[in-house]
Amino acid sequence: MFDKSVPHDRDHPALPRDLHVAVIMDGNGRWAQNRGWPRLVGHRKGAEQVRKLVEMCPELGIRYLTLYAFSTENWKRSTEEVLGLMSLFARYIRREAGRMKREGVRLRFIGDRTRLNDDLQMLIQWIETETAGNDRVHLTVALNYGGRDEITRATRAIARDVAAGKLDADDINDDVLSRYLDTRQLPDPDLVVRTSGETRVSNFLPWQAAYSEYVFTATLWPDFTPLSMQNILNDFAKRERRFGGVNA
Ligand code: FPP
Repeated sequence: MFDKSVPHDRDHPALPRDLHVAVIMDGNGRWAQNRGWPRLVGHRKGAEQVRKLVEMCPELGIRYLTLYAFSTENWKRSTEEVLGLMSLFARYIRREAGRMKREGVRLRFIGDRTRLNDDLQMLIQWIETETAGNDRVHLTVALNYGGRDEITRATRAIARDVAAGKLDADDINDDVLSRYLDTRQLPDPDLVVRTSGETRVSNFLPWQAAYSEYVFTATLWPDFTPLSMQNILNDFAKRERRFGGVNA
């Protein structure tokens, strides 16, 4: 499955040690529809690809993998699709729990979980606790996530802390704001990948990805393999990353 014959530039000096890759997994619906199948079949295949990619993260040099699984806009989809996705997420947690514990995967969720059903909220709480001691791969799933919503919630929390006298308004800076975001325990992503040929950012990590590289690929998510990621990473290693400065 993982093609070792493709030269891998993981040790390229341009690649950070603990890579954080964020992915907008797009194209499940089209993948299924192209075959005359219901959209949920595409999501199921997409979940399989998630499992394979997570498994290969250590090989790929990815320490942090953040996946956009359900946006604050996705509630507008049909009830059937929304319910199907919610049960897919629950099934993924139940089925993968053992493997994640064995393989050192720490699973976290970002987004406003208060709108998710009670069972899913409980499962999320459970798996986050179960895997809290793991440190080999940090898998973060964005569920009912929207970047503007996240920043709005953070701003509310900051305003409350200022009103309560816990925080001085003059002390608010980048770092302080970052600590109020759902991603407070994660480094900023080095790379954001979007599949399926769409070239929008769609409200995914707008604050955190301010200096990230972006890669847009035409591959639909159910066709996206660890080898697809490996090729993207090799390309990424060759790019110059300046952070607004000038390289010597
Ligand atoms: C976008 O494709 C994909 C989603 C809205 C769902 C992503 C979910 C998964 C990959 C399933 C499992 C995830 C985890 C973390 C277990 P789309 O439906 O918008 O495709 P389209 O643009 O072709 O319609």
